[in-house]
Order: sequence, then structure tokens, then C-alpha cells
Amino acid sequence: VIAVNEVAELRRILDEVRDAGGRVALVPTMGYLHAGHLSLCDAARRHADFVVLSVFVNPLQFGGGEDLEQYPRDLGRDAKAAMDHGVNLLFAPSTATMYPQGDTVTRVTAPGISGRLCGRYRPGHFDGVLTVVAKLFNLVSPAVAVFGQKDLQQATLIRSMVRDLDFRLDVHVAPTVREPDGVAMSSRNVYLQPDQRVAASSLYRSLQAAQAAFTAGERAPAALVAAAQAILEGESGVSIQYVELVDPETLEPPMQARRGDALAIAVHVGETRLIDNHLLE
Ligand code: PAF
Repeated sequence: VIAVNEVAELRRILDEVRDAGGRVALVPTMGYLHAGHLSLCDAARRHADFVVLSVFVNPLQFGGGEDLEQYPRDLGRDAKAAMDHGVNLLFAPSTATMYPQGDTVTRVTAPGISGRLCGRYRPGHFDGVLTVVAKLFNLVSPAVAVFGQKDLQQATLIRSMVRDLDFRLDVHVAPTVREPDGVAMSSRNVYLQPDQRVAASSLYRSLQAAQAAFTAGERAPAALVAAAQAILEGESGVSIQYVELVDPETLEPPMQARRGDALAIAVHVGETRLIDNHLLE
């Protein structure tokens, strides 16, 4: 895998790839790769000849009191895992490379959708995400970019940004990868103690409870939310931030639940904030 930290070198290599007719895919990450990220790399490989993985812990998307300093990092391990999954180029810029002025004067913002779900509890977070993703799109100019379904609201916002601002690329959203106990893969799972890990598995069980109710014919959003909530409330050590049923395009609650609607959850297990979601089938 070619490791690059600087913008000029990145652009030079990618121009050569494109001049030779190569199709470039981008997988944006904050590193500390797990099986979920690697499945995004595998998906990217299927859509392109040349896969770029970016690893950048983006300060713009962390609020005061969040885990920016603590966020796990291991670039050496990431490079090896990336290579094993067909990544051609690892772009790991420094903060000074991404934000030479220390900050940006311009922000990409989507006030409506950003204010829902997680946005209510993480003000500014999605402006930070959209701004860095727009920068990465302009740096890499990929033909396709791959994101994970686990970050439902992020995926919705990025699709909207690409459509609204005419970025010339396809957005591909890959399914959530879970541990055997159902816990969605996340770099933040390393924060969980063994007993908290058991509590964290209640997120998946609560999504399954809502799905079971939907399969049994329940269509009232409040009843599906209540089915999920009952599981979470029965689990000691889990404190609910939200449980909502939403249309995955608008993040608005539907009048009646339909297939494809998303049951989205955010909880705290101890200090650790966990999110998960499930598209009703
Ligand atoms: O999903 C993430 O890891 C981040 O939000 C992203 C998309 C890499 C932007 O920093």
C-alpha cells in the first residue's frame, strides 16, 4: 500500500491513475480499522480499480467534552489491514495539512437533517463531517465513495450533499458488520468493559424486537419504538438518548411504518455513546 500524507503527492498519483483509465474509490475513515471498515474496503474494491482509504481523526466533528484526544489510533496496524483488503493508497494527512489555517472559514451545513437524531445531542458534529467529507471528495475526486450503514444520519447527509452540490461521484452505503453477539462494529467498542459489552448487545436485541413486531403486522411507529425501548430499559447500565423510527431519506417520522424505514437508537453505556439502526424488512 502506498502511504501518502501530502496533498500534492496524493493528487499527482491519482491523476496518473485516472490518466491510465483507472476508476478511483474512496473509503473515508477515522482509522483504528475493524471488520466494518474492512468490509467498506472490500465493497470499494468491487466498484473500482484503485482504492484510496483515508485515515483522519477530524477535530471539526468533535464537540467540547467528546473523545477527540482519547480516540484510538494505530496507523501501522491500519496500513497492514488495508493492504490485506486491496487498498492501493492510504491517505493519512496531519491536522495541519487538512486545516492549514487551524479551522475553516467555510462550513458545509445541512440545517434541517443535521438537527435531527444525533444532531440534537451533538451540535456542530454533522457540519464537521460534511465539511471534511467535501474536502476529501475534492482532494481525491473519487468516482465512488463508500460509507457504512451504521452511521445512518451521516449516510443520509452525504447523499444529500452529493445531490445538492453536484459532486460527480456515486455514494455506496454498505451494511453494518456485527460481532457474534450482535454488537455493531465500532472503534469506540474498545472503551467498553466486559459487563458493558453485554449491556451493549441489547441494542441489537432491541432492533430485533422492533423487527419482530413489524413482521407480526405492527405498523404504528410508537408501538415499534416501544418494543425496542422495552428491551433497552430492561438492561441495567444502558441509558437511552433516543429511539426513533424515521424515513431514511428525510429522517422524519412516518405516519405508518413501511418496509425500509429505519429504527435508529443512541444510548450511553457508562461514558460510551453507542448508536445503531435497522431498516425494517
Ligand atoms: O464515519 C467516519 O468515520 C467519519 O465521520 C468520516 C466519514 C470519516 C468523516 O470524518
